[in-house]
Amino acid sequence: MSAPLTGAPALDAVNAALATVQDPEINRPLPELGMVKDVRIADDGTVRVEVYLTVSGCPMRETITNRVTQAVSAVPGVTSVQVALDVMNDEQRAELRKTVRGTDAPEPVIPFAQPGSLTRVYAVASGKGGVGKSSVTVNLAAALAKKGLSVGVVDADIYGHSVPRMLGVDDKPTQVDNMIMPPQAYGVKVISIGMFTPGNTPVVWRGPMLHRALQQFLADVWWGDLDVLLLDLPPGTGDVAISIAQLLPNAEILVVTTPQLAAAEVAERAGAIATQTHQQVVGVIENMSWLDLPDGGRMEVFGSGGGEAVSDALTRTLGARVPLLGQIPLDTRVREAGDAGAPVVLADPDSSAAQALAKIADGLATRQRGLSGMSLGLTPVRH
Ligand SMILES: Nc1ncnc2c1ncn2[C@@H]1O[C@H](COP(=O)(O)OP(=O)(O)OP(=O)(O)O)[C@@H](O)[C@H]1O
Ligand SMILES: [Mg+2]
Repeated sequence: MSAPLTGAPALDAVNAALATVQDPEINRPLPELGMVKDVRIADDGTVRVEVYLTVSGCPMRETITNRVTQAVSAVPGVTSVQVALDVMNDEQRAELRKTVRGTDAPEPVIPFAQPGSLTRVYAVASGKGGVGKSSVTVNLAAALAKKGLSVGVVDADIYGHSVPRMLGVDDKPTQVDNMIMPPQAYGVKVISIGMFTPGNTPVVWRGPMLHRALQQFLADVWWGDLDVLLLDLPPGTGDVAISIAQLLPNAEILVVTTPQLAAAEVAERAGAIATQTHQQVVGVIENMSWLDLPDGGRMEVFGSGGGEAVSDALTRTLGARVPLLGQIPLDTRVREAGDAGAPVVLADPDSSAAQALAKIADGLATRQRGLSGMSLGLTPVRH
């Protein structure tokens, strides 16, 4: 401390300081993870460090900024530290994943992402939480399985996993050789992050760890030949939506909203992410549309028009028709069935909510997959 300062700090010393800064989640030094973008040292001893975050809106940004500031400030000659944040692009993230996995081996193969895969993949998304994504997912899955289709569900809502309960699945997956065998309920194969955490421990994962977990769900789980894979996404347009778009570029988005116009605006944003990820939006499902009254009337508890508004707005934004696939009324039996682990489409198929859900499932079952991005399986003939 008492040594006189001898001009601007050395770049080597700053780099050495940065090498002591660990990413708070991956617990590896930032430079090793390719997270240091640039270091500039001014004559007056000001050091400007540019750091790559793995995703924008990274919850660790403040911790990382503080750690970098603290480490670099301790270097002799440093008068002040500026930390600027940038976000990695897809290639940089892929590189980081390779580093974290510690291997150059090819990424695990996800059968549904292969050209020629006949599995239709639907990612159920919403803007707001609590609009009924998980309820819709499990009911569509159960209805499709009942029709004889082979169906899988990935509970990709890492923070709020509720799919196993709604399907009444208590079993854990079993491991056979290197494959994870998913538990089944009502003919639906189910995998959830909740099955891999002890008790009800909340999971705090972000970017790369999430990505790895999802990749594992998709690659290492023995799904067999699925006709349909449904993914229950967390609300909003976060890391999971981006990872799914990267891991399963052929996944198509199903947007769930309520009739409330404020909710619809947020739902629209969740759907519009498809323009950036080049995914298709299959359609919009309006849930909690109304309450059927004993006198035959309807009470529009959350207003009306949300589903239509999202469908219209996404049709305009995406330049392709995004239909409103159905409206599901509010019905206490939806919740009761979910709590009891028996989806309403099976537990009470005559209820109007179950019928609306079954009709949407019918539409999805008969829907042909788009040919874009698919291999036609033709081999050129040599003469
Ligand atoms: N049509 C409906 N009628 C009555 N209750 C419903 C209906 N749809 C969903 N619910 C209930 O509303 C609550 C929220 O639904 P759900 O958990 O499916 O929403 P979510 O969008 O997955 O929520 P989150 O964002 O927390 O994951 C649950 O208690 C569910 O049982
Ligand atoms: Mg949910």
